[in-house]
Parts: sequence; C-alpha cells; structure tokens
Amino acid sequence: EEQKIQITSLGLFPYKGINLVRGVHQVQHLDSLEKFEIRGDDIVAVTYPRSGTTWTQYILSLLYHGDQMTEGSNKHPIQELVPLLEDNIRRIDYNNKPSTRTFASHLHLSSIPQGLREKGKLIYIARNPKDVAVSLFHLHNFTNVLESEPDFNIFLIKFLKGEVLWGSWFDHVADWYAHKDEFDILSLTYEDMIKDTRGAVVRISNFLGKKLDDQTIDTIVDKSTFKNMKEDPQARRDKQHPAFFEQSGSFIRKGMASMLSTFNKDCVSHEVNFNCWLQNSTRKRSLKIVP
Ligand code: A3P
Repeated sequence: EEQKIQITSLGLFPYKGINLVRGVHQVQHLDSLEKFEIRGDDIVAVTYPRSGTTWTQYILSLLYHGDQMTEGSNKHPIQELVPLLEDNIRRIDYNNKPSTRTFASHLHLSSIPQGLREKGKLIYIARNPKDVAVSLFHLHNFTNVLESEPDFNIFLIKFLKGEVLWGSWFDHVADWYAHKDEFDILSLTYEDMIKDTRGAVVRISNFLGKKLDDQTIDTIVDKSTFKNMKEDPQARRDKQHPAFFEQSGSFIRKGMASMLSTFNKDCVSHEVNFNCWLQNSTRKRSLKIVP
C-alpha cells in the first residue's frame, strides 16, 4: 500500500487523478467506498471543499441529531454526527451506525459509493470557483498538513490545474452536474444559501421529506448562522483536530459571497475559462492570472 503513495508536495498524494492528504486519507478505505453499502434512508451532502460543507453538515445535524448537539455529556461534534465518508478520522463503524445516517463527502463522481445510484439521497452544494479558490488558499496556509503557499497568484495557477487538495474544482462540479439526474439529488449553491438561508433550509427539509413548522425552521436558521457556528467548537474542525492546524485562523473563516449573481451554470464545463466566472465578481483586483 505504501508503494501506491508518492508525495507530490508536502502532505498530498495522488489518488485516481486527484490529490488527497497523507495521514488523513487512506487508500484502502477510499477503495472500499465504491462498494460501501447504502441504505434507503442515507443522506450524503457532496461538495468540493470550501463550498459550504460544514454549513450543510450543521443543518443536517440540526435536522436529524439535534438532541446530540445540546449541552451536556451527550454533545457530539458535527464531524461525528455527519462524518465525511472518506476521512473517518474518528474510526466510526459506518456499517453499524444507526439510521438515519447522515454523511458529507468531497468525493468526485467516479469514486462515490455506487449504491447511491439506487438508494439514498444526495445534496450537492457548489460555490463559485473564485471564492472557493480564495477560501482553499487560506485553508492550505492554515493547515499544517499541507505545504504553505503564501503567493495567491501561484496558488491560483495550481487551483486552475487541479494541483490542490481534492483536485480540480472544474472536474468536480462539471461531472456532478452532468450526471446529477442519475441520483436522487438536490443541488444548491453556497450563494443560494447566503442569499436566502431560510429558503435553503426549507428546500433541504422538503427534499428530505421533513414537514417542519415555521418555528422549527426559524430555530435551524438561527442556529446555523456564520456567527453561531464560528462560536461553536463542535462545528469547528480546527477545534476538533488542533494538531492539524495553525494556532491562528479559523476553519469557519469569513462566510461571504463575492459573486452578485446566482451560480452561473453556463460556466460549468471542462473547457471553462476562468474569466466566465469573474464577470460577476465584485472584486477583480487580486486575480491577475488567466490561463
Ligand atoms: P470562507 O473561507 O470564504 O469564509 P467547507 O465547510 O466546505 O470547507 O466551506 C468552508 C467555507 O464555508 C468557509 O468560507 C466558511 O467560512 C464558510 N462557512 C462555514 N459556515 C458558514 C455559515 N454558517 N454561513 C456562511 N458561510 C459559512
């Protein structure tokens, strides 16, 4: 197994055309996921990193595991309530986890458990690649399991080539959008969630077949605000796994959308020109490089 691993840069190793993190992702576990047995009531929130994963994990926790988020000895971190399929840092026995199982995942379409084509529900969240690039840039510098890259323009070239954590944003979004009809899927964008959080929570709960009264929805919206989540150590991966991160910084960082318009589906293709995404940007200044 060791032989399969070669380091492309500090901490990253190639896996099926993308880059994952040594010590976090294990080839054997990743290989097993394709055949991971899915149940009819499983829910998986899929994202490219920095697109609203934690936010969605938090909303799913409130929808399904609210009793385990309250004060007391029963309080669990959301990475345990809605774990990332591929990390399993906590070594949870996913096969014996009681229903309803809620997961998150950054897996590209080609590596997703095949059972999801027959059973279970998926929520795909996409975020405009400019904000993702900026956010991922900060993450690469904030975590100490990856090589730091202080120059954003150099990082951006790597991002555009897919030479960053989790590979190409373009491939991830384009593949999922092209094949989404093959799954029972709700697709949302981070920008949708920012513009109308309540609407997003309603769409998610309707999709999952939950009939919630207005007050319950309001409570979920109030609890999943950026401010509340930032203050909740159970929501913060950097608080849960301090060894992986620098002291300064926060996994929940700024929480803004710089694109004024909705996610532009016309820009999602493998041949996409990054400029397509920049047209609507309010802040073009730091992006000098166009491939
Ligand atoms: P920024 O770095 O732009 O602030 P992920 O969880 O997929 O890694 O995404 C992380 C991004 O989501 C970060 O973006 C983070 O601040 C933002 N985020 C997390 N919780 C949020 C919330 N409740 N509201 C808005 N943005 C949130």
